[in-house]
Amino acid sequence: MMEDILAYMHNFPAAGAKGPFTGLSAAWSCPSNIALVKYWGKRDGQLPVNPSLSMTLTQAVTRTRLTVAAETCEPGLASVNGDPGHPFLGKLRVLHRWFCETIPALRPLALTVETRNTFPHSSGIASSASGLGAFALCMLDLAGLLTKAGTAQDEFMRAASMAARIGSGSACRSLFGGFAWWGESPLMGESSDQYAVKIRNGIHPEMYGLRDAILVISSRPKELPSSAGHRAMDRHPFREGRISHAGENLRELLDALASGDFGKLADIAENEALTLHSLMMSARPGVILLQPGTLEAIARVREARRAGVPVCFTIDAGANLHLLYPATASADVERLISEALRPLCENELVIYDSCGTGPVRLAETQPLA
Ligand code: DP6
Repeated sequence: MMEDILAYMHNFPAAGAKGPFTGLSAAWSCPSNIALVKYWGKRDGQLPVNPSLSMTLTQAVTRTRLTVAAETCEPGLASVNGDPGHPFLGKLRVLHRWFCETIPALRPLALTVETRNTFPHSSGIASSASGLGAFALCMLDLAGLLTKAGTAQDEFMRAASMAARIGSGSACRSLFGGFAWWGESPLMGESSDQYAVKIRNGIHPEMYGLRDAILVISSRPKELPSSAGHRAMDRHPFREGRISHAGENLRELLDALASGDFGKLADIAENEALTLHSLMMSARPGVILLQPGTLEAIARVREARRAGVPVCFTIDAGANLHLLYPATASADVERLISEALRPLCENELVIYDSCGTGPVRLAETQPLA
């Protein structure tokens, strides 16, 4: 399958790229995602040590437009939002280089990037997932436009997912609506370490209504970049245990998603969040990213669940909580947030989101903001 995808990409130049291309553009909106079973640890560069499963979001999106600059410009990525020194350029250039190696038609182009997030930076929403997902979609789209190569939707998304993974592992799961799976496993047909797949069957309809309210406990940049955290898993004493533990959680989560059992999903999501942080704490050097406000919020969420409110939390590599709850519990959870949780948040910031339908291609003239 991976060979098929690479062949698909290599075939772009075969269709013949005839300029001039100045002004040609591609634009996409790509959502972020929240992992219920976490990807933590890599092998051979950008491959996961364990499969992961995420829910794609709706509101938290990156909208990106790539435009071919004048042909007199130096090939490569010229700027992001008009800034030739933009901090996101480093990550984009890694992925851009990979695209140019894979699709030769893209090599001569000078490109400018316009990009907007709908959510604040360092809010606990993975901007690299949505940002690199959107960039991968635009690059692939541009390759298709240049060469007028036909694109079948499934193949296109799989190739975009594979490319997004090169930019950031979790980004490969953002390319599909609903729930996505990344990592080869007998539990999921057609799964691969190279790209994510949409979980097409066996999801209870109510699960597509899941909400995610993000409690921004701290917007300070993370003390531990994800890449360093993944690296710390290479020689982690609990590495093997974690790999089999993730497999058990995935099996149970698939059951919970299929039966619509929110209580079971809550158990697994919280266990994954706390396991992720335990792994970070027990690495060398150990890192504590949870803040006092995080722990207080966890206690209050669990108290509410014991009192009958179907709500649980998950946390990525940071201090902020994602509260997950069924749509039917929205009123109860919103009350819980305003009475007990919002005061724990920095500037009382809470971002409401929900399970979404995946990326959208934007019209040529559509504004990004
Ligand atoms: C804790 O995808 O940010 O959010 O591949 O180095 O870019 P890189 O790492 P990244 O790691 C995300 C880790 C996580 C869990 C998850 O999203 O599965």
